[in-house]
Amino acid sequence: MIGCLFAGVQSLLNITLPGKQNGDVTLPCRIPEPVPKNISVRWYSAKDSWLTFGTRVYKHRTYLSVQKPAPNEWNLHIKNLAQSFTDVYTCHTDTNVTVSIISLVVESEPKFEDGLSTGKYYTVTEGDNATMECVVSGKPEPIIEWFRWFRENESYPLNVYGSQLKIPGVQRYAADLYTCKAKNKHGEVKKNISMTVDFEPEVDVMSPVVYAKQGEAAVLSCVVQGSPLVDVYWTDKGGNRNSTWWKYWIQTIPSGNGIPVIFINMIIRPAIISIHDYGNYTCNAKSNESHVQKGVELKKPEEKSADDSLTYN
Ligand SMILES: *[C@@H]1O[C@H](CO)[C@@H](O)[C@H](O)[C@H]1NC(C)=O
Ligand SMILES: *[C@@H]1O[C@H](CO)[C@@H](O)[C@H](O)[C@H]1NC(C)=O
Ligand SMILES: *[C@@H]1O[C@H](CO)[C@@H](O)[C@H](O)[C@H]1NC(C)=O
Ligand SMILES: *[C@@H]1O[C@H](CO)[C@@H](O)[C@H](O)[C@H]1NC(C)=O
Ligand SMILES: *[C@@H]1O[C@H](CO)[C@@H](O)[C@H](O)[C@H]1NC(C)=O
Ligand SMILES: *[C@@H]1O[C@H](CO)[C@@H](O)[C@H](O)[C@H]1NC(C)=O
Ligand SMILES: *[C@@H]1O[C@H](CO)[C@@H](O)[C@H](O)[C@H]1NC(C)=O
Ligand SMILES: *[C@@H]1O[C@H](CO)[C@@H](O)[C@H](O)[C@H]1NC(C)=O
Ligand SMILES: *[C@@H]1O[C@H](CO)[C@@H](O)[C@H](O)[C@H]1NC(C)=O
Repeated sequence: MIGCLFAGVQSLLNITLPGKQNGDVTLPCRIPEPVPKNISVRWYSAKDSWLTFGTRVYKHRTYLSVQKPAPNEWNLHIKNLAQSFTDVYTCHTDTNVTVSIISLVVESEPKFEDGLSTGKYYTVTEGDNATMECVVSGKPEPIIEWFRWFRENESYPLNVYGSQLKIPGVQRYAADLYTCKAKNKHGEVKKNISMTVDFEPEVDVMSPVVYAKQGEAAVLSCVVQGSPLVDVYWTDKGGNRNSTWWKYWIQTIPSGNGIPVIFINMIIRPAIISIHDYGNYTCNAKSNESHVQKGVELKKPEEKSADDSLTYN
């Protein structure tokens, strides 16, 4: 009888066993045949001390039971596994011989730790170091991969792995939708982060001097960049704001492809240019912090030839 039990010691089962969170797991405890009469076993855990004796359960009765598929087996069954069941479980005979040592590792699918991760919207100032972070729990440790959308309907892998996506000295053109994907053998999760890059407005006019005859249309074109822009508009020589009206047609065309550019054209409709319309117009862009302007001078073509002749002389 004692010999048998020492044989049992020699065939000690010492393993690590994975179990899926919320799933069930069975920890084996088998005494080599022949089984001594009257023998019984106890399960013990490092955290909770004695758990069972024979088929009696002392702790966590909702979750634990002892299954005896055979007279020499006292398997510990744990259902609805919680993370807290990660522990080392040992099965002993009542004669104090260790039969199994099972390190149970409760595994789970990836999950974002939202409080520690970057939110859905991330704003950074141009030139700063942008850092987006996806903090993920899960076992085995999930692999995190980063993607960028480039304003398209699908995302492209950036070949960046790990919880952080860093863009040192971030430029305005990096403003985009990014995705982090966390994956392990139990599943995968994704999260979108929309990054905005703030920068002060910049204004540029296509041509600083525009010539138009009376009766012609004149097109004054301006390119504005900035983020966030609070206002974009044209003013006339009196400093009045010109909005779309019967005389002026203001086109505001945001550029596609995520580049924070606005084209703002003031078209003075044909056949109505009068002597009063010549002069300086101003393209304006405002952020909360600054107001940037650039002028366009609308001139009669006669003035052009006059200028030209001046140049030639
Ligand atoms: C059980 O296995 C672990 C890890 O492999 C080892 O550290 C430990 O010493 C083993 N225990 C016994 C009693 O063999
Ligand atoms: C088995 O246990 C009972 C009660 O504990 C005892 O009366 C009996 O003698 C034991 N039998 C053997 C073979 O040890
Ligand atoms: C069981 O064995 C351990 C060491 O293996 C020892 O410390 C303990 O005192 C023993 N318990 C009994 C009840 O024999
Ligand atoms: C960006 O990171 C680099 C290197 O990590 C550092 O030298 C630099 O000071 C950082 N810039 C800002 C604006 O924090
Ligand atoms: C994505 O865009 C491409 C072309 O730009 C188009 O062919 C494709 O059907 C689009 N896919 C979806 C899911 O909209
Ligand atoms: C991320 O954004 C894309 C594009 O708008 C969308 O198709 C996708 O469902 C979003 N994913 C998540 C996890 O929100
Ligand atoms: C536009 O400018 C003209 C002067 O060139 C001015 O008379 C007019 O009131 C302005 N229109 C608006 C809507 O501000
Ligand atoms: C328009 O502005 C330019 C430069 O600011 C100036 O030289 C020119 O005299 C102005 N023209 C008129 C008609 O005010
Ligand atoms: C600009 O400032 C106003 C008032 O302080 C604020 O309500 C608004 O949200 C700001 N806009 C931007 C784009 O920062």
